[in-house]
Amino acid sequence: MDVRTAGSAAVTIGGPVAVVASGISLLLLKSFLSHHRSGANPIHLPSVPEIPGLPLLGNLLQLKDKKPYKTFSKWAETHGPIYSVKAGATSMVVINSNDLAKEVFVTKFESISTRKLSKALRILTADKTMVAMSDYDDYHRTVKRNILTSILGPNALKKHRLHRDTLLDNLSNQLHDLAPNSPQEPINLRKIFQSELFTLALKQAFGRDMESIYVDDLGITMTRDEAFQVLVIDPMMGAIQVDWRDFFPYLSWIPNPNFEKTIEQMYVRREAVMKTLIQEHKKRIDSGENLYSFIDYLLSEAQPLTEKQILMSLWEPIIETADTTMVTTEWAMYELAKNPKKQARLHDEIQSVCGSEKITEEKLCKMPYLLAVFHETLRRYSPVSIIPLRYVHENVELGGYHVPFGTELAINIYGCNMDREIWEDPEDWNPERFLSENEPVDLQRTMAFGGGKRVCAGAMQAMLIVCASIGRMVHEFEWRLKDDVGEDVDMLGLTTQKLNPMLVVIKPRK
Ligand code: HEM
Repeated sequence: MDVRTAGSAAVTIGGPVAVVASGISLLLLKSFLSHHRSGANPIHLPSVPEIPGLPLLGNLLQLKDKKPYKTFSKWAETHGPIYSVKAGATSMVVINSNDLAKEVFVTKFESISTRKLSKALRILTADKTMVAMSDYDDYHRTVKRNILTSILGPNALKKHRLHRDTLLDNLSNQLHDLAPNSPQEPINLRKIFQSELFTLALKQAFGRDMESIYVDDLGITMTRDEAFQVLVIDPMMGAIQVDWRDFFPYLSWIPNPNFEKTIEQMYVRREAVMKTLIQEHKKRIDSGENLYSFIDYLLSEAQPLTEKQILMSLWEPIIETADTTMVTTEWAMYELAKNPKKQARLHDEIQSVCGSEKITEEKLCKMPYLLAVFHETLRRYSPVSIIPLRYVHENVELGGYHVPFGTELAINIYGCNMDREIWEDPEDWNPERFLSENEPVDLQRTMAFGGGKRVCAGAMQAMLIVCASIGRMVHEFEWRLKDDVGEDVDMLGLTTQKLNPMLVVIKPRK
């Protein structure tokens, strides 16, 4: 496949987050229900404008091209930054401007803090048993605290530093091994980087990488690659599976056996592999082996969770680490390989800060151009182009419109980052725009990590890994694309990534 492209991309939550959009494979809500249950519109605000569609189908056919974020942006040019669309019997409000997005993330958060999931996501997230897909409730607070304490918060990041440094060394070593042959055999960075991220995620969750494992519940031995498929790729693909009943909830009594079988199988296989990893780790604990990892924290220090909650807590960072971080790095390297002048400017900056020493995380703050490359890549290629749908649980006013209880909300981050009112020549990838002294660079400018109380928990880890990896790769090698790759198409699954992996030729720098 390109697995990720076949449905195109991957979840990630880092993406799970990314979950959203997918062919708008996400759910939408019953508009008639909302009208019945929402009660009156007390101050007679206008309703959100609707995009014209067909009877019964609504806008489904207009959204079938798998890039809903682009269609949404086009509609915003004629219908304004907020409008509603219909998919079958369901409807949702789409937001396409920074100001309105901030209203949803922050000022109106109390009325829009829950989620409504598609059938596929309900099964794969074990009915919202993960941070990124849960409602904003006590469970969410507990599991978010756990993941921050043990993996993603500032102290935990310090404890996992060794694993990130090893990732950089492994990446560099593999590239040095492949470089001499790269003119004949172009390098697929995605493959190498994704595998290293999987290793990192396993070390964070279980204290060590894995080789093949015997999965008792399935009665088979799996290679590491097969386990990656089951833990990461299959659920990413599953998360964007469309069940037509999502769009016609009043027909949900009709069975859809193929869909149910596919998703159930993904669930069962993932559970079997995770259970094996957990059992193996428990045996190591019994034998006195002491490792610093998320599972040790969950089994000893954290507030007790059920077995299912522990399993989902451990799986969540594995799938989140493997995707969005890779997607961002690949897009950045693609642009740098295409733009020799910008690559040279970045190399000069790294060279002046690091000289002949290796780049380290401490030095990142001294390299404004590297940070600008990171932010510009997130702006131009926001990996989570549509924020996982939010659910309005009480009547609320947005942008001067009445949005009733029961509405689902899609925030089109791609649309916000392509807004010509805010960004000059938004289609251009131009890191220089983030070097202006007048505007501080912070993650809020692109909103690629969301915002407010549900902001991405992995933003800091992602920034460290992406920036240090780009820095190391540009410091040590000259990059150019293999031939003319022609029109480069990106597609949306749960994240927006290159349709085809980037193929490059690299040359070690003297
Ligand atoms: C460039 C990389 C990444 C991007 C662009 C990204 C983006 C996002 C976005 C847009 C959200 C949704 C916010 C919302 O619903 O409002 C999110 C949530 C989340 N992300 Fe990331 N993410 C990245 C990397 C990661 C990594 C590496 C991890 C963990 C290993 C992670 C863990 C999470 C978690 C746990 C949430 C849920 C937060 C909550 O609901 O409270 N992310 N991310």
